[in-house]
This record gives sequence, C-alpha cells and structure tokens, in this order.
Amino acid sequence: MKNVLIIVSHPREESLTVSMASAHAEASKNVGNSVEVIDLYRCEKQQPFFTYEDANGVYQTEEMTYFQEKIEKADEIVFFFPYWWGSMPAILKNFLDWNLSKGFAFTYENGRPKGLLEGKHVKLFTTTGAPKFFYTITGANRRLKNMFKEQIVNFCGMKLESCNIYGGVDTSGKNVEAILADVPMKI
Ligand SMILES: Cc1cc2nc3c(=O)[nH]c(=O)nc-3n(C[C@H](O)[C@H](O)[C@H](O)COP(=O)(O)O)c2cc1C
Repeated sequence: MKNVLIIVSHPREESLTVSMASAHAEASKNVGNSVEVIDLYRCEKQQPFFTYEDANGVYQTEEMTYFQEKIEKADEIVFFFPYWWGSMPAILKNFLDWNLSKGFAFTYENGRPKGLLEGKHVKLFTTTGAPKFFYTITGANRRLKNMFKEQIVNFCGMKLESCNIYGGVDTSGKNVEAILADVPMKI
C-alpha cells in the first residue's frame, strides 16, 4: 500500500486533465493505495503569487504547512496538467515556488544543494495540442521531461518514475478515449 498524492491543475473541472486524474485516482484506490487529490484551482487553500520577499524563507504560511504535510506523507506524487507554453500552468508553478521551499524540499550543505524529499517517487501526466511525433522530433517533449526531472524532482532528492506525455489533444477530442483507457494502467 502506497500513500499517493495527486496534484491536478486545470481551470475546467470537466477537462480531460481532471478526468485523467480521477481515472488514475480510482485505479490506484482499487489496488489498495491511500489516495489524496489536490485540485489546485478548486482547493480551499489558495496561495497568492509568490514574491521575492517570500523566497527568503523567513516565514512559514498556514497554506505551506497544509500542502507540505501532504507532500511529506506521500510515497508517490503524481502531477496532472495540460502542456501550456512549453511548460505547466502558472498555478502549478506557483505551487512549486511556495511549497518546495528551502529547509523543506532542499537545503545547502557546503555550498551544494541537497534534496530533502528522498524516497519519494514522481509521475507526470500531461497532454499537448501538438501531435506526439512533432514534439518528439522537435525535442519539446524531451525538454519538458528533463526540466521536470533535473530542475524539480532530482533537485529535491526525489525520483522521476514516469513521464507520460499524450499528444494530439485538440478540439476534435479524437484521442480522448485512448488516453482515458491508458492512464489507469500507469498506476
Ligand atoms: C494557455 C495555453 C497554452 C498552450 N500551450 C501549448 C503548447 O505550448 N504546446 C501544445 O502542444 N499545446 C498547447 N496548448 C494546448 C493544450 O496543451 C491542450 O489544449 C490541452 O493539452 C488539452 O487538454 P485539456 O482538454 O485537459 O485542456 C495550450 C493551451 C492553452 C490554453
């Protein structure tokens, strides 16, 4: 049994992204995992835009404690978000800015960074409007994976277990069924 924390970021509750997160949560519960979902757009705890003053880590907010306790408890953290402007939605970036704070997610030892979230595994699920072949040959998918892996997951001492990028998610909705069938297989 694993403690799984799902973090989903999409402004529309009826979106494919939110449906993917629900399908994954259901499948994970069915195999006996304890699953918690943070829906960033609809969560009762909202965090304002992170500012430079906050970056000094001089104070701990109530919201940081709320989210960090959930991160602390998780064996596995699973992110669901749409691929926006080559990256993640700003609300997810803001979540990382605030909650992967110095002293909680990383520290410095002899001037070198040291991750403090060792033992946690991370999975990533995202969808792109662009077709998969196009983002594979242009390197866009690789850039997203490497950025997340090197700059976020590894930096905090965690391990990226899988990076699932589904392409060709446009208004036609033609790939939706296949994606929703695949996501529960990746628990
Ligand atoms: C603000 C914004 C930025 C986007 N940027 C990209 C992009 O850089 N590359 C891409 O392939 N698709 C991009 N898209 C398309 C989304 O990735 C696509 O609509 C989404 O994956 C569909 O999932 P959803 O149905 O859950 O929204 C963007 C969409 C929006 C709204």
